Amino acid sequence: MTQTHVTSRGEVSIRDLSKSFSLNGRALKVLRNIDLDVASGQCIAIVGASGSGKTTLLRILAGLEAADSGDVLIDGAPIHGVGAERAVIFQEPRLLPWLTVMENVVFPLEIRKIAGDDSIKCAHRYLRLVGLTDFADAYPAQLSGGMAQRVGIARALAVQPELLLLDEPLGALDAMTKMTMQEELARIWAEEHVTMVLVTHDLEEAIYLADKVVILPRQKGSAIRTVEVDLPRPRDRSNPGFVSLRQSLLAEFGLH
Ligand SMILES: Nc1ncnc2c1ncn2[C@@H]1O[C@H](COP(=O)(O)OP(=O)(O)OP(=O)(O)O)[C@@H](O)[C@H]1O
Ligand SMILES: [Mg+2]
Repeated sequence: MTQTHVTSRGEVSIRDLSKSFSLNGRALKVLRNIDLDVASGQCIAIVGASGSGKTTLLRILAGLEAADSGDVLIDGAPIHGVGAERAVIFQEPRLLPWLTVMENVVFPLEIRKIAGDDSIKCAHRYLRLVGLTDFADAYPAQLSGGMAQRVGIARALAVQPELLLLDEPLGALDAMTKMTMQEELARIWAEEHVTMVLVTHDLEEAIYLADKVVILPRQKGSAIRTVEVDLPRPRDRSNPGFVSLRQSLLAEFGLH
């Protein structure tokens, strides 16, 4: 058997990407000349004002939207539509209400023709990872918001994506659940070595989870700003480095 060395799993490279939408016959420039690199296994957070194009950028990476110009490469190859190596988690988990928790996680595996026994084993592993083993037979309506989102995370991870794309995955949760889920995401990311691109409104969440924070400009055409988060993990929200980074990010948004 030949040994394969995977050196660039989930590596993202965006070059000179631009995207406009047409709005009432006028072109609305949303992203302009964006350059961005995400190394394999890194977690980056994308923040920016509402309407700055965060979701649009994520949808382009997911292959749900095409860029007007520029290159978007994953592991060196241009993306063509959606692909099995990328999984997306949206703000609401979008579970199938007529299927149990287990069946929801198994479903995408079956679509990918993973044999029955293997798919159940795999689903069990990820339900364990998100702490929902005891709820395998429950239906989505019987879950809390945080639990439903954890099923969504298990479902996305079970297909073993190289790149996990998250669009405000914790945005709908209450403050306490959100903090717990941030801790879970940090743990899962560390265990799974998956590359993560996380869109969030929450600067603290960005600092808690990301290796670098990318700030989309309010003024279209201005350069994106990147802030490296060089804090030890697991991160401590009360650490002085954490607090001062949060202050300086808030200042970027004119907040104090
Ligand atoms: N399909 C579309 N057709 C036309 N305009 C669109 C479309 N999708 C997004 N836009 C526009 O692109 C801009 C950026 O939208 P996007 O959803 O990427 O912003 P966002 O940064 O995710 O904002 P939010 O923080 O509110 O989620 C907005 O002005 C929006 O109106
Ligand atoms: Mg959005």
